[in-house]
Amino acid sequence: MRSYDIALIPGDGIGKEVVEAAMPVLRKAAGQNGFTLKETVYPWSCNVYLETGRMMPEDGVEQLRRHDSILLGAVGWPDRVPDSVSLHGLLLPIRKAFDLYVNMRPHRMLPGVTGPLRATDFDILCIRENTEGEYSGAGGRVHVGTPAEVAVETSIFTRRGVERVLRYGFEQARRRRGKLASVTKSNAQKHSMVFWDEVTEALSAEYPDVEVTRYHVDAIAARMITHPGSLDVVVASNLFGDILTDIGAAIQGGLGFAASANVNPSGGVPSMFEPVHGSAPDIAGRGLSNPIATIWSGALMFEHLGEAAAAKAIMAAVETVAGAPERLTPDCGGSANTQEVAEAIASELQGCQGTRAGPSVHA
Ligand code: NAI
Ligand code: MG
Repeated sequence: MRSYDIALIPGDGIGKEVVEAAMPVLRKAAGQNGFTLKETVYPWSCNVYLETGRMMPEDGVEQLRRHDSILLGAVGWPDRVPDSVSLHGLLLPIRKAFDLYVNMRPHRMLPGVTGPLRATDFDILCIRENTEGEYSGAGGRVHVGTPAEVAVETSIFTRRGVERVLRYGFEQARRRRGKLASVTKSNAQKHSMVFWDEVTEALSAEYPDVEVTRYHVDAIAARMITHPGSLDVVVASNLFGDILTDIGAAIQGGLGFAASANVNPSGGVPSMFEPVHGSAPDIAGRGLSNPIATIWSGALMFEHLGEAAAAKAIMAAVETVAGAPERLTPDCGGSANTQEVAEAIASELQGCQGTRAGPSVHA
């Protein structure tokens, strides 16, 4: 039987609850589709930091390397550990070490979910560059604390980095509805974003079947709200993608639905799957967290591992449950707790014998 070696990093706050709730769903879908999961739990978190002074052990990345995939809940306990420490001690080192340069986030509304928009017929796949750009970490401060203080944060755009993430976007567009939105700001950022536009233009010659539109980031931010149905694949730099995908999460009904995949498409290293949301200390420990973003992230993981049937089965079950919103958590107007939502999804899972074609995971 096929088996996949999965590293689980539940993390902090609701990260622990949503991973615990999601795993039985993933295990059941695996069993119904002819494979098993070998799970190793890594308790790396702010708690571990407070005990040891490190978010993960020195060889943490090496421990993860042997796994097929990583499923992460969320990290952060801002009252006890500064966010810059928790983020730079765990999440960012993993993304960088495995060169997980694609951060893919599907935004569509599940049937039955009520979002803030009147338009509900949209299906956007945001692809955010995940390793460089505005979050490269290059910069510094001088004359600290004096009136002459200077802070410099330098964006770094490399041909390799820009080309590979755009290429991934073109490939996805080709498999979907053939439309690619390239997010730019070349009117104001005359070096990096003019370069981004040039790379987009050069690649578009290789993909004559993909219709490319260049949008300034502010214009596409508005368009995601006014005309979300006009967008298919959206490719953006690290910062632009970070911001746009929060809009994406909001229009799809909230952070409890927003899933993500941090992928190195070349393979050979584990990719990492995680809900977009954080550890939500405001609701942690009360069974209020929506586990769907994590379950959906698990479906993205299965699809990445080549288990498309299991991924589709999960999304079909998620859609069935979302179709009866009273079965969801209170943030979606329902009255169920985290565990009950996950149990409802598990109970709706159909085995691979079913002839019903489920919806695709990010289409
Ligand atoms: P957050 O995403 O944790 O919470 C924002 C708001 O959304 C809160 O009101 C929360 O209750 C709600 N929310 C989030 N996920 C939900 C879910 N599944 N179901 C229902 N409601 C949900 O963002 P916030 O408050 O800015 O950050 C809290 C901590 O999480 C910080 O330490 C932050 O650094 C960390 N964080 C970690 C991330 C990660 O591990 N990937 C991502 C974002 C934040
Ligand atoms: Mg963000």
